Amino acid sequence: MRQRYPDLFDEDTTTLMDYACGTGLISRELCPYVKSIVGVDISQGMIDQFNLRVSNQGLAPEEMRAVCVDLKQENHELHGTKFDVIVCSMAYHHFPSIEDVTRLLASFLQAGGSLLVADIYRDTLQTDIFPHEHGAHVHEHIVAHQRGFDEGDMRRTFKTAGLELKDFGIVTSGKMHGKDVDFFVAHGLGSGVSP
Ligand SMILES: C[S@@+](CC[C@H](N)C(=O)[O-])C[C@H]1O[C@@H](n2cnc3c(N)ncnc32)[C@H](O)[C@@H]1O
Repeated sequence: MRQRYPDLFDEDTTTLMDYACGTGLISRELCPYVKSIVGVDISQGMIDQFNLRVSNQGLAPEEMRAVCVDLKQENHELHGTKFDVIVCSMAYHHFPSIEDVTRLLASFLQAGGSLLVADIYRDTLQTDIFPHEHGAHVHEHIVAHQRGFDEGDMRRTFKTAGLELKDFGIVTSGKMHGKDVDFFVAHGLGSGVSP
């Protein structure tokens, strides 16, 4: 993300939310290049791991911390804080409605802010990534989008949230459950008007 969009990260000014942050893999990479990071996840176990590593690194909570919260648009979680950049890595395929999540995240962006989504790229073969057992998807109950997303999916989804798809690209490849998988990053840009 940082290599592709260097202008989005300013260590003196950029406020960043890492949504569905897990233990903070992405936050720890981005931390030196932004002013502050708030991680958000629904799993208390993940949040505890995240914050333990932050304190072990000697970072102040004002610089980087994570909170266990189920964000809802109508609520006032995070005390009305809005962010310059929101990142969400390897979580979109878990969300039943990526449109609802994207609208929610857009509401936490500053005017003209950026949403960066990284996830599984749905290739033209559209092969299943997650294992099958007796003809059924073992992971069906936890993985809503078994095959990931393509550029059209992200363009449509961002549009429903008032974001413009500024960029979409495959940034790296790897293996998941023994299958070759490409991973994309999509950059959604908010309007200059406050949401
Ligand atoms: C595969 S992990 C990705 C973690 C991290 N973003 C990374 O790239 O290493 C998916 C994470 O999404 C979180 N998650 C799932 N649904 C969520 C929701 N509705 N709100 C916040 N976090 C959620 C899970 O608890 C889990 O930590």
